[in-house]
Amino acid sequence: MTPLTFSPEITNAQQERMTASLFNHHLLIVGQTGSGKTTTTLTLLSQLQKRNQTAIILDPTGEYSKLPNTITYRLGDNCYFEAGKLTAKQLLESVQLPVQPLLVQKLRQAITDLQLQHNIVGQTGIYHRLGKSIADHQYYLRQLGNWSSDYQVALLFQQLIEEFTVPALDERADYSLLGQQYDRKAINRAWPQLIALQECLGSTAFRTLFDTDRHPGTMKSELNFVLKMFLHHASQHRTLVIDLSLLKHYEGSQRLLISLLLKQILRCRLADNAGFPVNVVIDEAHRYLPKNEQDLADNGIFQLLREGRKLDLKMLLTTQSPLDLPPRLRSQFNHLIVHRLLDPAEVHCLPGDWRLPDAAKFEVGQAALCLFGNHPQKVRVNLPAWWDKNA
Ligand SMILES: Nc1ncnc2c1ncn2[C@@H]1O[C@H](COP(=O)(O)OP(=O)(O)OP(=O)(O)O)[C@@H](O)[C@H]1O
Ligand SMILES: [Mg+2]
Repeated sequence: MTPLTFSPEITNAQQERMTASLFNHHLLIVGQTGSGKTTTTLTLLSQLQKRNQTAIILDPTGEYSKLPNTITYRLGDNCYFEAGKLTAKQLLESVQLPVQPLLVQKLRQAITDLQLQHNIVGQTGIYHRLGKSIADHQYYLRQLGNWSSDYQVALLFQQLIEEFTVPALDERADYSLLGQQYDRKAINRAWPQLIALQECLGSTAFRTLFDTDRHPGTMKSELNFVLKMFLHHASQHRTLVIDLSLLKHYEGSQRLLISLLLKQILRCRLADNAGFPVNVVIDEAHRYLPKNEQDLADNGIFQLLREGRKLDLKMLLTTQSPLDLPPRLRSQFNHLIVHRLLDPAEVHCLPGDWRLPDAAKFEVGQAALCLFGNHPQKVRVNLPAWWDKNA
């Protein structure tokens, strides 16, 4: 079964050419809810599999687990995200806590100290600052490299308390030490924030995300490592699904995670372009974009759209209304599939000078295919062959 049915006057050769060129550029699929975006994406993914092309699906809802012939990494089941890959600010963002300058600074210090304890001192437990000489501390710091980012997230709260150590307040003060006593007043002032952070990091979703309670004997892979492996070695199984549905009630956390994973994909490609094209898929992408234009440049979705093409990385995004996407991002798309859209303003804002058939009258699964340099074509999206068996 071909993925798309064209109108009868389009020759087979034209159909084949248009279907093939769908994957040459970034592709945006738009349409109101229930118009067929996810189904179309699944159809296109099946087509990519037939063409032996690689795809990575970042799946925040778990909808793509029904796609056959995939390797699936489900956050919480067989993969986790290394907390050490997050800066203090990102860690707070991942748990959706408002960023307080004092806490960011203490958290930054606590993360470094736990990294020292885990990777340099090589012992379990927290890194004790009471009585530790500044010279020893600096000696450890010099040894901390990029390779040593891993640490025990479960100890963050305890370590944060340790960050409030200060010299003695009287003549016993020894300024060659990191600290001699706890600044209890400062701890009490920061207490509500400390408790809020502990509550977030202690919740099941985040303990699972960061694999806080590692169980010996269970095999979990780190997500950045999974991506690296997948992008380096073209395997027989070319569709990777990263299921982030564990965090489906934490949209802000998913937004951060998706952005970081996309940046990792870009980094891998920049370091070593393994020479095969990769399609990256995100459904309902507008949910995972920053709310304001200023933050767009730092977002992984935007960066991949802008930088990806020359690295053979293409994006397939879906969204209900093109108006939900910032204009700077919309303009990155040369190809579109437009399902039913009721509001003429939505049609009007689409990139390119398309004269679309009346998108408000499209039935479910019907669409206009707008390929760069071609007239829009009315098409019907065919369900993939495995669909019925799956229903
Ligand atoms: N091409 C098609 N052929 C036949 N049925 C379809 C087609 N596309 C979609 N459908 C039917 O319509 C339903 C809704 O489609 P789908 O979930 O793909 O829409 P959507 O645009 O992704 O909606 P949402 O915005 O809610 O995510 C599907 O469950 C499927 O039964
Ligand atoms: Mg959908």
